[in-house]
Amino acid sequence: MLNSKKILLIITGGIAAYKCPDLVRRMRERGANVRCVLTSSAKNFVASMTLSAISEERVYEELYSLTDEHEMGHIQLGRDADIILVAPATANMLTKMACGLADDLASSILLATDKPVFAAPSMNVRMWENPAIQENVELLRKRDIKIIGPEEGDMACHDYGLGRMSEPSEIIAALENFLTVDTPLSGRHALVTSGPTHEPIDPVRYIANRSSGKQGYAIAESLAKLGARTTLVSGPTHLPTPSGVDMVCVESASQMLAACEAALPADIAVFVAAVCDWHVAERAPNKLKKNMQSTPLALQLSENPDILATIGADNINRPKLVVGFAAETENVIENAKEKLTSKGCDWIVANNVSLDCGTLSGDKNTVHLITETKSEEWPTLNKSAVGLRIARRIAKALGNRAKEQSVGI
Ligand code: C5P
Repeated sequence: MLNSKKILLIITGGIAAYKCPDLVRRMRERGANVRCVLTSSAKNFVASMTLSAISEERVYEELYSLTDEHEMGHIQLGRDADIILVAPATANMLTKMACGLADDLASSILLATDKPVFAAPSMNVRMWENPAIQENVELLRKRDIKIIGPEEGDMACHDYGLGRMSEPSEIIAALENFLTVDTPLSGRHALVTSGPTHEPIDPVRYIANRSSGKQGYAIAESLAKLGARTTLVSGPTHLPTPSGVDMVCVESASQMLAACEAALPADIAVFVAAVCDWHVAERAPNKLKKNMQSTPLALQLSENPDILATIGADNINRPKLVVGFAAETENVIENAKEKLTSKGCDWIVANNVSLDCGTLSGDKNTVHLITETKSEEWPTLNKSAVGLRIARRIAKALGNRAKEQSVGI
């Protein structure tokens, strides 16, 4: 999918720059033409000579190069590219991008381009978690800069956490995903639920769970990318709205059910939300005061509607393909199979959400796809890759649907 694509790789000064020769090689193997731009600090981590040998192109470094700037090099390099990829993207470069600074060749290209820009951050975990960086990254996302990773793991500075640059294979997968233009789901409507629900106790307190919403958002984004008109009904999360998706924000399970019913009819429904099983039977109209309650304070809980089971059993509006999720901490497959029957869905995506798996708030997921007849174990993948894979399976199943009776995998 990278065939004949012109990729301008901007390498900034992080230790992960050592992976860039491999990244260039792999992109070239897929048919891409790659040109590299190095910042002055990147030169400490990777040699210009190596990159020019592997890319078979000149490597660009200077803003004030008489030969290049005579041809307006910083404008022309961006103009010539189909995609600009900043990898590794340091905290410094992300901040320059967010502020619109242009004090070297790399940042000038980024400011002067209208081409799609991808950035693969790489930095120490505490730098990544710093609100200055988080806010700048959020700003960049809003401006449609596509952020790849970072990943969690051991760091060169002996810390552990989020901040490692994504592997070249993941970066290439993100570029290929972007370049995918096939839309097998065009003309279809997909409904996706995601995130937690908040069940109010009083006007300021609520019951919730640890769901981040990342997996559901990734599925919604992929379904939209494959051409489906996609409605994402989401409980409260901190995530930006995925591109191309119609977003409906809700808080409680009952609001989520109402929003789902209002969104029908749909061809596809994927219920990823971690819906609270109970709500507080009598929500207090005013804030509960601790000195005015009997101790221990007892909350009466009533069961919430099961959105998946309700829509799965809808005789009139049941979507053609209903997919549920089973977040389990033990006996994952058995429990998921039982859920497939009891909730009336066609497929169940089962995953282990024990705290030590880090699935609930993390970026990776290890899932099993279960149907009436089969169970498949998938490798551990980024949630975005799981999302795309599920969306592609859905597209394939609906494509086969005309020929076959059941929705097989
Ligand atoms: O019963 P459990 O919560 O484990 O079932 C998980 C599946 O059911 C998920 O697909 C979830 O989105 C869906 N669900 C729902 N409404 C509920 C509870 C779960 O749609 N009230």
